[in-house]
Amino acid sequence: SSLELGPYSHFMQKEIHEQPKALSDTIEAVLDAGFCPALFGDRADTVLRELEGVKILACGTSYYAGLTAKYWIESIAGVLCDVEIASEYRYREAWVHPKHLVVTISQSGETLDTMEALKYAKSKGHCAALSICNVAESAIPRASELVFYTRAGAEIGVASTKAFTTQLVALFTLAVTLGKLRGRVDAAAEAGYLEALRHLPGSVQHALNLEPQIKAWSERFAPKNDALFLGRGLHYPIALEGALKLKEISYIHAEAYPAGELKHGPLALVDQNMPVVVIAPNDALLEKVKSNMQEVRARGGELFVFADLDSHFSESEGVHVIRTPRHVGVLSAVVHAIPVQLLAYHVALARGTDVDKPRNLAKSVTVE
Ligand code: G6P
Repeated sequence: SSLELGPYSHFMQKEIHEQPKALSDTIEAVLDAGFCPALFGDRADTVLRELEGVKILACGTSYYAGLTAKYWIESIAGVLCDVEIASEYRYREAWVHPKHLVVTISQSGETLDTMEALKYAKSKGHCAALSICNVAESAIPRASELVFYTRAGAEIGVASTKAFTTQLVALFTLAVTLGKLRGRVDAAAEAGYLEALRHLPGSVQHALNLEPQIKAWSERFAPKNDALFLGRGLHYPIALEGALKLKEISYIHAEAYPAGELKHGPLALVDQNMPVVVIAPNDALLEKVKSNMQEVRARGGELFVFADLDSHFSESEGVHVIRTPRHVGVLSAVVHAIPVQLLAYHVALARGTDVDKPRNLAKSVTVE
């Protein structure tokens, strides 16, 4: 397998670095055809035109892709979107609207809870389901009327990386396509979204180039027992994903919060032993994030901030800053997934854990 790894030490590192290519491959069809229903299969035109809401079901990292999608689907398409953990949904008496499209997200297409949640949704009367999946002809896409295959290529590291970012662009494509069908995205807006997609692999490559700086930070995290991740809006699910990655492979306890919730609990945990990672690109919520950061500093918490050039952050005592690529607007969440993956990877290396096969975890969970 050293041959397959090339210059990389682990599959996870290799897969993190494959993201510009994985993203280019996944968006190729979108760049060629524009945001059109046919991207989701032959039956998609009618289904996407007629749906009245979206119900996303997934587990793990795929669930966080779903949480990100909610922001896009509601803001770009103006369609109600609700996201639920598959293992919870399948066991509750759910309220069903037949015209809500079920969207499952699964790298493997074989996760038992997601498959059972899909079957349950169908049995309760949902008319159609869309599968966003990375493995052709796996169980979940086979059980779905519509399908969008991400083209991340085989993912071997247990902790999902390139599958996640390609899921994000698939879901973004869904949001814009729905917006077009509803007359909310006109030709000029569509051109803007295509342009954003076209620039994405390059921005992701810039984010990958931050690896040496992130590696330097990892030394400070390695001896810690806990970490807090903060983000707001579209970057909140990325904070969740960053915390999950850190837990999975470095075994450091990590939690993520939307920064506005800090005062409702987690602030009590903040002291000099609690590193706080903040995802703080320049968006509408930046000023709010800055004031949340002051609350952390005032309690002695050390801040590790990912901020783009436009955020105008400078380093100061207890405030470390890594500059992410110039703000890429609506796809910023995808770009900011990269530095938190790299942080988890290098912290795990520093702690000497088995990065590609973390204890107690499996790549694909096909049992309950
Ligand atoms: C396992 C993997 C995760 C993955 C989750 C869902 O827990 O370790 O990386 O996110 O399953 O898997 P799926 O294949 O359905 O996306």
